[in-house]
Amino acid sequence: MSTFPLSRPRRLRVNASTRALVQETTLSVNDLIAPVFVVEGENITEEISSMPGYFRYSLDQLEIEVTDLWNHGIKSVLVFVKADDHTKDNAGTEALNPNGLMQRAIKRIKTVCPEMIVMTDVALDPYSSYGHDGIVENGEIVNEKTVEVLAKMSVSHAQAGADMVAPSDMMDGRILRIRQALDEAGFINTGIMAYSAKYASCFYGPFRDALDSAPGFGDKKTYQMNPANRIEAVKEALMDEQEGADMVMVKPGMPYLDIVREVKNAVHVPVSVYHVSGEYAMIKAAAAKGWLNEKQAIMEVMMGFKRAGADLIATYFAKDVAKLLR
Ligand code: PBG
Repeated sequence: MSTFPLSRPRRLRVNASTRALVQETTLSVNDLIAPVFVVEGENITEEISSMPGYFRYSLDQLEIEVTDLWNHGIKSVLVFVKADDHTKDNAGTEALNPNGLMQRAIKRIKTVCPEMIVMTDVALDPYSSYGHDGIVENGEIVNEKTVEVLAKMSVSHAQAGADMVAPSDMMDGRILRIRQALDEAGFINTGIMAYSAKYASCFYGPFRDALDSAPGFGDKKTYQMNPANRIEAVKEALMDEQEGADMVMVKPGMPYLDIVREVKNAVHVPVSVYHVSGEYAMIKAAAAKGWLNEKQAIMEVMMGFKRAGADLIATYFAKDVAKLLR
């Protein structure tokens, strides 16, 4: 290694063309996954109060939004539904309804935008009377019974036309069971994006407002990961890869860039990162106060994810990023 004055790192920063030539990391519209929130009803476009500029859509409005995302070059949506309260129970019954909101949403998206890759959230919390990701017995979230429902739910999403299911529940062994269930039902090409390293994070707060899915008792620490742990994230990702995950995910994003890198170095499948609702809210709030330049903040965060090793980024800023990249 030559040192100063032979090596002058500023030589490669001297003008925009040189900087472009030596740029190590790039970001493309193909890297983006746009989450969408769906509600029952008609002609509904509801702003989520803790996520300014982000909306819940009824199915008719969802068609318009998804078409707009597609026209911005975005090739994948991750679908979340806000189930009506009266459909909630402790068994995830509504999650399996072939005519449920999720199943209808998948069909509507595929009708208006057949090439859009539809990924679906697989977890029981929007359907749970307890607001937990699994079935509750004696105050505990039971693993195996939950996994059985998640496997059926995945098949139901595949039947409706989902391209990929995205289990976000953090139960043990669910990837293998979902893979088996999809294969047994003939859905060999329906993929699995596993939320492998999902931390028990306060940054999901605005999302739980969006879906009215906050846990009714306790917290999610018996299934979501301890933010203090690193090796465990690699273990989870390797297990999911072995169980048949086509992609793995790290979530949240900004506080966990070290985990993105470690997981990227460990697995041989694409790694996605979820830039979650609280991270969106932070940027929006600071920008509203005039404390941050929103556009620059968004692009710096996106580049940070890519540099850390993320292949895909799920972000509520997907459309903004697409516009900024144009
Ligand atoms: C629930 C789920 C959550 C998110 C995605 N799927 C919240 C939670 O685990 O409580 C969070 C997304 C976000 O905050 O943007 N299975």
